[in-house]
Amino acid sequence: MIALASDHGGFQLKEAIKAHLEEQNIPYEDFGCHDETSCDYPDMAYPACKAVVEGKCEKAILCCGTGIGISMAANKVKGIRAAACSDYFSAKYTRLHNDANALCLGGRVVGVGLALELCDVFLSTPFEGGRHTRRIEKLTEIENQ
Ligand code: RB5
Repeated sequence: MIALASDHGGFQLKEAIKAHLEEQNIPYEDFGCHDETSCDYPDMAYPACKAVVEGKCEKAILCCGTGIGISMAANKVKGIRAAACSDYFSAKYTRLHNDANALCLGGRVVGVGLALELCDVFLSTPFEGGRHTRRIEKLTEIENQ
C-alpha cells in the first residue's frame, strides 16, 4: 500500500500518480487533499507519514508545489526518510543509499511524464544495505536525541 498526499500545489500531480498506480494495480491510500482549494501541506503529510511508520503503508509519495515544504513536514515524523527529487538519479539512489521511505515531488517543478518515472524507480529500487545501513542507523540516533 502506498500512502499518497499533497497540498493544492501538488494536487494535479497526485491525481496523475493515482491513475498511474491504478494502471499497475498498485494499491494506494489517498490522504488528501481532494481538490485545488488552498491548504497546508503538513496537514496531509502527517497522516500519510504516520501510516508509513505504523506499517499500514510501505512508502509515501508526497506532492506540493516544489516538493520541498512537504518533504520538510515528512522529515519531522520519526522514522520517515523523505527525499525531494526532480531527477532520475536522485530518486534511484535515495532508495539504494538512503532507504528513503517517502518520495516528494514538486507539481510546479517536474512534468507528469518525469514524475511518473521517478515514482516507478523509487518504488522498484531496493535498499542496498551494507555500509549504508550504518548511516541510516546514525540518522535514527540523531532522531532519538
Ligand atoms: C503552496 O503555494 C506552496 O508553497 C507549496 O505547495 C509548496 O511548494 C511549499 O513548499
